Amino acid sequence: MARESESGLPIEPVYGPEALQGWDPAEKLGEPGKYPFTRGVYPTMYTGRPWTMRQYAGFGTATESNARYKQLIANGTMGLSVAFDLPTQMGHDSDAPIAHGEVGKVGVAIDSIDDMRVLFGGIPLDKVSTSMTINAPAALLLLLYQLVAEEQGVSADKLTGTIQNDVLKEYIARGTYIFPPKPSLRLIADIFKYCKAEIPKWNTISISGYHMAEAGASPAQEIAFTLADGIEYVRTAVAAGMDVDDFAPRLSFFFVARTTILEEVAKFRAARRIWARVMKEEFGAKNPKSLMLRFHTQTAGVQLTAQQPEVNLVRVAVQGLAAVLGGTQSLHTNSFDEAIALPTDKSARLALRTQQVLAYETDVTATVDPFAGSYVIEKMTDDVEAAAVELMGKVEELGGAVNAIERGFQKSEIERSAYRIAQETDSGERVVVGVNRFQLDEEEPYEPLRVDPAIEAQQAERLAKLRAERDQQAVDSALAALRKAAEGEDNVLYPMKEALRARATVGEVCNALREVWGTYVPSDAF
Ligand code: 3HC
Repeated sequence: MARESESGLPIEPVYGPEALQGWDPAEKLGEPGKYPFTRGVYPTMYTGRPWTMRQYAGFGTATESNARYKQLIANGTMGLSVAFDLPTQMGHDSDAPIAHGEVGKVGVAIDSIDDMRVLFGGIPLDKVSTSMTINAPAALLLLLYQLVAEEQGVSADKLTGTIQNDVLKEYIARGTYIFPPKPSLRLIADIFKYCKAEIPKWNTISISGYHMAEAGASPAQEIAFTLADGIEYVRTAVAAGMDVDDFAPRLSFFFVARTTILEEVAKFRAARRIWARVMKEEFGAKNPKSLMLRFHTQTAGVQLTAQQPEVNLVRVAVQGLAAVLGGTQSLHTNSFDEAIALPTDKSARLALRTQQVLAYETDVTATVDPFAGSYVIEKMTDDVEAAAVELMGKVEELGGAVNAIERGFQKSEIERSAYRIAQETDSGERVVVGVNRFQLDEEEPYEPLRVDPAIEAQQAERLAKLRAERDQQAVDSALAALRKAAEGEDNVLYPMKEALRARATVGEVCNALREVWGTYVPSDAF
């Protein structure tokens, strides 16, 4: 009897170290835009259109963030990327006691449709592609986006963007989870089905390795654990009755770009090749778009230093180059002052200008996959691919990503890697300019941007006004319908949309689901 994964699908991996032996070198390399996509997902890559310059931003109330988005659009950004504050990410209202001190801090506070309407006020939602870094409550923010678009007269089939919606990496490395794995995977399958029917151009998930990398994961661990999460999501959707080609074209990924350019280029090429093979050989996907690993990249925040912060401008330029040479579809370049505080308008503009120099002043966009055929790159691609496939095999032996998470496998592997990095930095073997070599006797002062603490009170007033004005009975019955759907098999996004339309808050909707599904308690297995 084959071992089963969390979704109940049998585990029958068709790739593995032995499968990599004797793979014809020409076929392994392939052509750009063709299986196994080693050289990039599009035949022309950037020669026709550069990657999407998509700067992650958001802080304070919807008003402040709306102003920043308009500034980024004016500065030439090509896609929006919304950062939410922790209460929103954890499904709590700004006036919940647990939210105290975090409202509007690491992202924008969104409590209801009223806030979402302000966040996108004056931004035509049929003209922008919007990424939202939201996981456990991803369905709510997607529906709020759709409801606001509807008010703008924009139909859902015109909407383009992405929700991160990757709860498995939250259990491993980031922590903004709410529900246990089973209901979380059910909710993700509901989102896949809902988007297939209602918002067909929407990327339903951004399966992320970035946060694992920031926690210390090596390049091989970063892609192995990310792709293993991806396999768990595919198995879940197939077990929920979807045909793989119905949802796989709208899966997307998210990785880091470190300063180690060559290794990062090899990492991206290996990830595309492994994923293409998994989708074709394990899941029998037929649509070429189901085999393409399309990804967003963010430059490595953990490599930024508070010491001599301007040196980070150079690091980010090098990291951005690594992402572009590696074939990213979308890129966020960090601001040089992010190791100190939220980016100022000027540092955010400089981060975007870095991408514009790469796209319009260098010649790296003139050739598709310029590194192809380079001995060192092909060798490193093979090496990181073999290491990743071996790690993926270990996850499968443990019963797939969720079972491995419950055993603490990914977390302990990443912590081992983080410890090694710390030791190498402490010994000076791993140079960090300005930190363990080339230090200044005295650091120069730098005045960071600060978030106004009055924001929390502002949000609490908005919530009190909303609750006083709305039709409470409509909210109560909509939340009751949501609880009923969560208890049964029906897709929860439809009753959820009606609750949000009736001005139920993010916290109320998530609390209704907490009542039915409970909340996740991490295992102490490692
Ligand atoms: N040839 C043919 N078509 C091309 C092309 C080419 N060379 N280049 C682009 N296109 C087409 C594409 O096919 C696509 O059309 P389609 O949607 O109809 O297929 C369209 O042009 C847009 O191109 P992409 O899809 O490649 O680019 P997008 O920018 O729209 O999407 C993505 C990129 C990776 C697929 C998407 O999922 C995305 O934007 N992800 C962003 C995720 C993100 O921003 N995350 C932020 C995380 S921050 C965080 O986690 C917190 C912090 O702590 C780190």
